[in-house]
Amino acid sequence: MGLNVVILAAGQGKRMHSSLPKVLHPLAGRPLLAHVIGTARALKPARICVVYGHGGEQVPAALAASDLRFAKQEPQLGTGHALQQALPELEAGGDVLVLYGDVPLISVATLTELIAGGGERVRLVTVKLSDPAGYGRIVRDAKGEIRAIVEQKDASEEQRRIAEINTGIMLLPGTRLAAWLGRLSNRNAQGEYYLTDVIAMAIADGVHVEARAPAAPWEVMGVNTKEQLAELERIHQRRTASGLLDAGVTLTDPARIDVRGELRCATDVRIDVNCVFEGEVELGAGVNIGANCVIRNTRIGAATRVEPFSFIDGAIISENCIIGPYARIRPGTELANDVHIGNFVEVKASTIGSGSKANHLAYIGDTSMGRDVNVGAGTITCNYDGADKHRTVIEDDVFIGSDTQLVAPVTVGRGSTIGAGSTITRDTPPGELTLSRTKQTSIANWKRPRKAAKRTK
Ligand code: UD1
Ligand code: CA
Repeated sequence: MGLNVVILAAGQGKRMHSSLPKVLHPLAGRPLLAHVIGTARALKPARICVVYGHGGEQVPAALAASDLRFAKQEPQLGTGHALQQALPELEAGGDVLVLYGDVPLISVATLTELIAGGGERVRLVTVKLSDPAGYGRIVRDAKGEIRAIVEQKDASEEQRRIAEINTGIMLLPGTRLAAWLGRLSNRNAQGEYYLTDVIAMAIADGVHVEARAPAAPWEVMGVNTKEQLAELERIHQRRTASGLLDAGVTLTDPARIDVRGELRCATDVRIDVNCVFEGEVELGAGVNIGANCVIRNTRIGAATRVEPFSFIDGAIISENCIIGPYARIRPGTELANDVHIGNFVEVKASTIGSGSKANHLAYIGDTSMGRDVNVGAGTITCNYDGADKHRTVIEDDVFIGSDTQLVAPVTVGRGSTIGAGSTITRDTPPGELTLSRTKQTSIANWKRPRKAAKRTK
C-alpha cells in the first residue's frame, strides 16, 4: 500500500500581516509550501494532497502540478477537520503522513525514519522545548508510554509543565484513520476538530503510539510571523553555505551569501561577500565572484572573474572573461572566451566573440559581435526605433571609437575602424576607417555671451 502525504495549509496566518496566503511567502525564493512539497516528493508517495482554504484559489494556482491533489477546507474547523477533507483524495488504506505547509525545513532524513517499517502504528515527531507555551503537550504514563496530546488551551496546570510538545508532523495508519476522524468532536476550549484527539483513540484501539525526534531542531520550526520567516531563511542559507564550503567553495563569509535556487560550483570557486544567486547558476573551475553581485540563471566558464556590483541574468559566459565591476548582463547574452565587459556596460540578447572588449559605459543590445572587437567608451547600439528592435552586426577585428552610435539594422564590416563620435547608419566597408562627424573648426575672436550688467537706478 502506498504512502499518502497530506500537507495542511488552510490556515490564515494572520500574524504575517499580508494579503498573500502564509504558505506562499517565499523562503530562499520559493514558497514555503513548495519546500514541503519538494520534501514530500522525495519520499515517493502514492499521493500528495494539499489542504488549502484561506486565500482561496491562490494556493492551488501558485503550485499546481500534475502529481498534486488539492482539497479545499472551508470553513477551517481545525486540523482534524482539515485532514478529513483530504481523505477522498488519498489512496485508500495507505498510511498518512501529515505535514504542515508552514513548517518548511522538515528533512527527508527525519521523515524517512518516521515512515520506516510497517504495521499499524502512530508515529509523532516531538521535541522538548524550554518554553512549550502554545503547543500541544505529549502526555505520557508512568511507564513513559504516550497516552494523549493535550492542547495548551485544554491543558491542566500540571500538563502545561510538560516540556515535550507535538510538532504536528505525524504518521497515521490508513486502516484506522477515517474511523478516528469520523469520531472527532469539537467540544474543547477552541471549538475545533483537533487532529491530536486521534492519539487517545489510537491508544484505546490498542494501536501503538511512538515519538521520534527530528534530526535537527530547526526542522520543526513553523512560520507564523515575518520574524520567524526571516529566522528560518537565515538557518536555511547558513546550511546551504555549509554545503558549499563542504564541497570546496571558498566563501569569504558563509553568513553573507544567499542562494535562491541551485548553485553548482566546480573546484576552486571563490565568492566574496553579499552575493545573491537565483534560479540555476553554474560556476566553472576557478571562477571568482566579487562582492555584491547578483547572478541569476547563468552559466559561467572556468577562470572567469566577475568584479564587484555586477548583475548577470540569463547569460552564458565562457572561460577566462572579466565582467564588471558594475556590469549588467541581461538575458540572451552569450560571451565567448576572454571577453571583457567593464563598468557601466549593459549587454542584452547579444553574442560576443572571443577576445572582444567593451570596457566602459556602453549599451550592446541585439548584437552579433565577432572576435577581437574593441568597443570604445560610450558606444551605443541603437536597437529600437520606437516600434521594432533591430540587430547590429559587428564583424571580427573591428575598432569602434568612443561615443559612437550604431543605428540598427547595421553591419560594421570586418576589420573596419569607426572614428570616435560617429553616428553610423549604413553598413561600413571592411578594413576602412568610417567616420561621420563634421570637421573641427575654430572661430577666432569669438566671445562667450554674458549676462547684461544690472542697471543701477
Ligand atoms: C497544532 C496542534 C498542536 C501542535 C501545533 C504545532 C492540533 C489541534 N494542534 O496547533 O498540538 O503543537 O500545531 O504547531 O492539531 N490548519 C488547517 N486547517 C485548520 C487549522 C489548521 O489547514 O482548520 C493548518 C494550518 O494552516 C497549519 C497547521 O494546520 O499549517 C497547524 O495549524 P495551527 O493553527 O498553527 O495549529 P495549532 O492549533 O496552533
Ligand atoms: Ca501553530
